[in-house]
Amino acid sequence: MSLRLCVRLARRSVPLLRPQVGISEEMGRLCRSLSTSHSHKAEKKLFTPGPLGTSLTVRQAMLQDLGSRDVNFINVIKKIRADLLNIAEVSPSEFTSVLLQGSGTFAVESIFQTTVPHTGAKVLILENGVYGRRMKTICDTLAIPAHMESFPEDSRVDLGRVESVLKGDISFTHVAIVQCETTSGLFNDVESVGKLVKKYVPSCTYFVDAMSSFGAVPVDFSTGNIDVLVSSANKCLQGVPGFGFAVIRKDTLSRCKGNSRSLSLDLYDQCDALDKTSQFRFTPATHTMLAFSQALDEFRQEGGVHGRRQRYTENCRVLREGMTRLGFRPYLKDDVAGYIITSYFYPQHPNFSFPEFYRRLNDKDDVIYPGKLLKADCFRIGTIGHLFPEDVERLLRNIEVVCRDMGMQVPLEN
Ligand SMILES: Cc1ncc(COP(=O)(O)O)c(C=O)c1O
Repeated sequence: MSLRLCVRLARRSVPLLRPQVGISEEMGRLCRSLSTSHSHKAEKKLFTPGPLGTSLTVRQAMLQDLGSRDVNFINVIKKIRADLLNIAEVSPSEFTSVLLQGSGTFAVESIFQTTVPHTGAKVLILENGVYGRRMKTICDTLAIPAHMESFPEDSRVDLGRVESVLKGDISFTHVAIVQCETTSGLFNDVESVGKLVKKYVPSCTYFVDAMSSFGAVPVDFSTGNIDVLVSSANKCLQGVPGFGFAVIRKDTLSRCKGNSRSLSLDLYDQCDALDKTSQFRFTPATHTMLAFSQALDEFRQEGGVHGRRQRYTENCRVLREGMTRLGFRPYLKDDVAGYIITSYFYPQHPNFSFPEFYRRLNDKDDVIYPGKLLKADCFRIGTIGHLFPEDVERLLRNIEVVCRDMGMQVPLEN
C-alpha cells in the first residue's frame, strides 16, 4: 500500500477517532497496521543461517526512535546484558556480557583483538569449516601467532587429536572452536574439548564461537571451562541483525586492558563504558536493541533454550524426513548433524543447477542458502529463526514443484 493511500485512509477515519488521541498518533497506528499486514503477505521465509526471519512483533518493536541517553534505552541495555547471562546460566559475579555493534564476525574479531596480548601469546584454532578458518584469517590479519588444527568437514573435532596436540605443545595461551559449524551444520563437543584444554593448559583462555547455536543449543560453561563465548542478535535469539555480543569471564577481561589492536573492536573499553555509564562508546544500534529486547521476551515465553531447541528440532525433523522422501541426500551422518542447518548434496541430475533451483524457490518466497564446503557440492537449508514446522512443510511442497518444473523426476534418483 502506498504511503499516500495510507494517509488518505487515515484522514478519512480521523472524525471517528477518540478525541484525546492525536491525529498523527492515530495515523501512525493505521499506517503501521496497514503496512504490516501488507508486508506480512509478501513475507519471504528465510531458510538460511542468517539473516534470519523474525516475528512481526520483534520488527514492530523498532518503530520508535530513542536517543542513546534516554533512560528507557539505558534500561533496555541493562536488561539485555542481564538476560544474556541468564541464558548462558552463568553468575554475574564471575561473568559479564558485552554488546558490540556490527555483525558476528566483528564480535569474533574483537575477542582475538582484546584477549590476546601483544607478546608471548599463541592461539590454537580447532577447525572443521569456514568459520573456524575465518578465525585463522582474523589472527593472521592481526599478526597474532596461531596454529590451525584442521579436521574433516563432516566429522567432529576429534578429542584424541586435540589431546595429543595439547600434550605436545603446552605453550598455547588461547584455544578457539566453533560450536555449530554452520558450514555443514555439525555440532562440535565444546564441553569435552574445554575439559582437555584446562587439563593440559590450565591458564589457557578457552573461546567458543556459538554464533549460530547460542539460545537453542545448550552450552555448559562450567563443565566446558568456557572463558568466552560469542553470538549475535539475529541468530537463535531471533532479534534483527546489527550487533553481536560476548559472554566473558570477568577475570579474563580484566587482564585485557590495552591489548586491542583496534579502537572500535576493543571489548575491554566497550565493557568499561557500558559498566560505567550503560552507554556505548559510539552510536549504538538503538532500533536493533529494542527489537532484541522484545526477542528476548519472546524467547522466554517460548520456554528459553529448551523451548527453542524443541521447535528447531521439530523443524529439522520435518525437513529431513521430507527431503529423504524427495530423494535428496544429506551431507552429514545423523550422529554428528545438529538441528540448526542441514547441507544437502546437489542432485546428480543433468537439469539441476543451484542458481536456477534457488531462483525458482525464491520466486515462491522460500529462501535457501548456497553451500560453502571445501570438497562437496551442497546447498544448505536452515531451520532456525521465526520458522515453524508448517513453513518447512510448505518449503518441501515448493521444492517438489520446482524439481518437477526443472524436469527432474521426484523422488530423485541419486
Ligand atoms: C559459527 C559462525 N561464526 C561466525 C559467523 C559470522 O557471522 P556474521 O556473518 O554475522 O559476521 C557465522 C555466520 O553465520 C557463523 O555461523
